[in-house]
Parts: sequence; structure tokens; C-alpha cells
Amino acid sequence: MEMEGARVLVVGATGVIGGAIAEECAARGATVLPAGRDPDRLAERARSLGAEAAFAFDAYDLDTCAGLAARAAEVAGGLDAVVVAIGTVAFAPAADLGEEMVEHLFTVNALAPMAVLRGALPVVDEGGAVAAISGVLVDRPQPGMADYGAAKAALSAWLTAVRTEQRRRRVAVLDARLPHLETGFADRAAVGTPPAMPPPADLDTVVRGIVDALAEGAALVLPDGKGGVRAEARAR
Ligand SMILES: NC(=O)c1ccc[n+]([C@@H]2O[C@H](COP(=O)([O-])OP(=O)(O)OC[C@H]3O[C@@H](n4cnc5c(N)ncnc54)[C@H](OP(=O)(O)O)[C@@H]3O)[C@@H](O)[C@H]2O)c1
Repeated sequence: MEMEGARVLVVGATGVIGGAIAEECAARGATVLPAGRDPDRLAERARSLGAEAAFAFDAYDLDTCAGLAARAAEVAGGLDAVVVAIGTVAFAPAADLGEEMVEHLFTVNALAPMAVLRGALPVVDEGGAVAAISGVLVDRPQPGMADYGAAKAALSAWLTAVRTEQRRRRVAVLDARLPHLETGFADRAAVGTPPAMPPPADLDTVVRGIVDALAEGAALVLPDGKGGVRAEARAR
């Protein structure tokens, strides 16, 4: 997919990673439409992108999530890519987490991203791409984050199956299994305080890697062990 002139919806453009992805796509010549929860940050992002429209939503409203891509396509005259960068984490042993919090983690990290992309699949043009951010813990589940990790693993498994479904339409499905980044995400946890984290990867390098992978139609973004990421064409 050619980024110059591409029409891209970024869901979670109010966040640090989503905002940086939106700005990187725009810097490469894409027309970017942002969606987010926080109204002030959404308005600010829309201004900075020069976006024609911006879409407010909450992860708990799954019908609105599922309708975002169609609304964006109506404004942009079609869509070439949809990126979902929403998420929330909780730090606690599984035995200490209440069911309401587990439902929260699965809604924000799995059900809402899946709803957004389910709605995007019939809307994104052939040759386009959809993407979501999971995390390295899909491959290496961590104690103290069992339910967050399980929600990300659910999203990742869904992306893997949908990738095969979409092959005939040539819509790429990207799963960005990102390493730790210093975005303040862990400090905004819904519950608990973060454990000692590994040294963070470099945000700018990672964001450029994600946008490269989106443009290439890659399947996976994985840590490269050198503070950045690498793309893989095939899922595993
Ligand atoms: N930072 C890391 O180390 C790291 C590593 C691996 C994966 N990730 C993943 O990367 C993604 C982005 O994280 P980030 O580091 O950029 O953190 P962030 O700045 O806190 O971004 C979180 C995003 O999720 C949105 N969000 C949270 N709850 C929501 C809800 N109920 N409804 C709608 N939107 C909601 C936020 O929207 P508002 O701002 O509008 O409230 C924001 O756009 C997350 O999926 C996270 O799991 C992060």
C-alpha cells in the first residue's frame, strides 16, 4: 500500500503510540482520520493532523466501535487502512482481580479492537491493511499481567485467523506485538503498580517500524532485540 494519498483511520489516536502512528502516516502523505475517547486530546490531534473529521467513541460501546470505519470511509471517500491502538493494563495476581476488572481488560484490549476491525473489513479497499497493537506478552505471558496478557492473546489469535480469511481480498492484517515503551501506559494502569520493566524500546523507531510494516502489508511486528522492531511477512 502506498502511504502517499492513503486514507487511514487511527483508533486510539489520543494515546501516545496511536498519536505517533497517526502523525507518521500523515508525514508520509496519508489522509488521517483520528478516533479517540478523550474529547480534548481528540480535538487537538484532529487539529494537528488537519483532519476533516474526528470520531469520539468508548470501547464499551461496541456498536459504535463497529461503525467507525464506515463513518470514516464516508468522509474520506473510502479507506485504505485502519489501525487500532487502544488498550489498558492491570497489574495484580490473577487470584486478586475481580471479574469486573477482567471484563474491563477484555473489553478494551480485545472486544473493542475486534469490533472496530470487524466493521473495517468490508470497508477497507482491496490491497489495504488493518492493524492492531497486541504485545510481546502474547508470546511470553507474564505473572501479574495474566488477564491483560490473555486479552491481548485473544486479539492476536483473532488477527491470525482473520489474516487467512482476508487473503483473497488482499487485505493485510497486522499484529504489532510491541515491546515495552516509555509512554506512561503502565503508570495509567486500571489496577496496581507496574513491576520493574525492561529498558524501553525507542518510540520513534518503533512507530516508523509499524508504519513501514503497514505499508508493506506485513503480518507481524516483533521486537528486534536492539531497541526497535522488525516486520515479518508471515504469522507464527
Ligand atoms: N506502552 C507500552 O509499553 C506498550 C507495550 C506493548 C503494547 N502496548 C499497547 O499499545 C497500545 C497503546 O498504548 P500507549 O502506550 O500509547 O498508551 P496510552 O497513551 O495510554 O494509550 C491508550 C489508548 O487507549 C485508549 N483507551 C483506553 N481506554 C479506552 C476506552 N474505554 N475507550 C476508548 N479508548 C480507550 C486511550 O484513549 P483516551 O486517551 O482517549 O482515553 C488511548 O488512546 C495499547 O493497546 C497497549 O496495550 C503498549
